Amino acid sequence: KRPIIIDTDPGIDDALAIAIALFSDELDVKLITTVAGNVGLDKVTYNALRLLKYFEREDIPVAMGADSPLIRPYEDASNVHGKSGMEGFDFEEPTISAIKENAVDAMRKVIMESAEPVTLVPIAPLTNIALLLKTYPEVKKNIREIVMMGGSASRGNKGVMSEFNVALDPEAAHMVFHSGVKLTMVGLDVGLKALVLPQDSERIKDMNKTGAMAYCLFKKYRGGSFNTGLKMYDSSAIAYLLAPEMFTAEETYLDVELAGSMTAGCTVVDLKGYLHQDANATVCLDINQDAFRQWFVDSIQKCI
Ligand code: BDR
Ligand code: CA
Repeated sequence: KRPIIIDTDPGIDDALAIAIALFSDELDVKLITTVAGNVGLDKVTYNALRLLKYFEREDIPVAMGADSPLIRPYEDASNVHGKSGMEGFDFEEPTISAIKENAVDAMRKVIMESAEPVTLVPIAPLTNIALLLKTYPEVKKNIREIVMMGGSASRGNKGVMSEFNVALDPEAAHMVFHSGVKLTMVGLDVGLKALVLPQDSERIKDMNKTGAMAYCLFKKYRGGSFNTGLKMYDSSAIAYLLAPEMFTAEETYLDVELAGSMTAGCTVVDLKGYLHQDANATVCLDINQDAFRQWFVDSIQKCI
């Protein structure tokens, strides 16, 4: 099984990405790290712990990371995911707590001790990953790749041109993009097409306890997108790991705008080579929507 670390801010779409990763035959989730994102650090950590309890996987350690971006002030997205970050389902209290080590030290330990190179899957602002690569550059040699959900090759959802995970901490994204570690970006424009339609939600509803929970969260997600299609942003990063053939992607130069008064946090995907830079990333540009829907339902089927 391929060892991975999920860096997350659950988050309704994070919850589904975590479920799919946990029950996949191909992935071995070694660690979950949390970062301030959709809601504050205490809430997202509590949510991660509640998810592991629900999935009966409290053997997986949870480590808390940054409670704010590197430089900019923190702003949450509770308008999208509800006040708790996972509104819509009555979870049990977790039995375990976060481990004492912080996310950066915990990631370092897992990476350095792993016999096989580890894949990092950030589905949240990149603060923890930037701090890890800066503080412990020696980890780079045992990171297989980073597959992130964030950024966009077109429009944004936090700003006109900027996607939430990158826009919340653009300086962190900058550090990750220029770290030299192999990187794949599954952005907002692709996530917008990773849709779960009402008939898919109906199919998973009575499938198992994960499907039942997902159905309740979906009813609350993004103030009523249940009927028009739920955007499974974070699951699309897991989908790339497990079924990359569903995606159209290109190797290209990727950067992030830091200074723009209207565009800070906008990812710059230089497909046409205007900037005369070598490729530093694989950027996903499209997804087969029917294949994704089927993959999503099949993946939930594998869960408890
Ligand atoms: C990203 O932002 C968060 O709200 C989602 O969980 C996802 O990671 C989408 O822009
Ligand atoms: Ca997320």
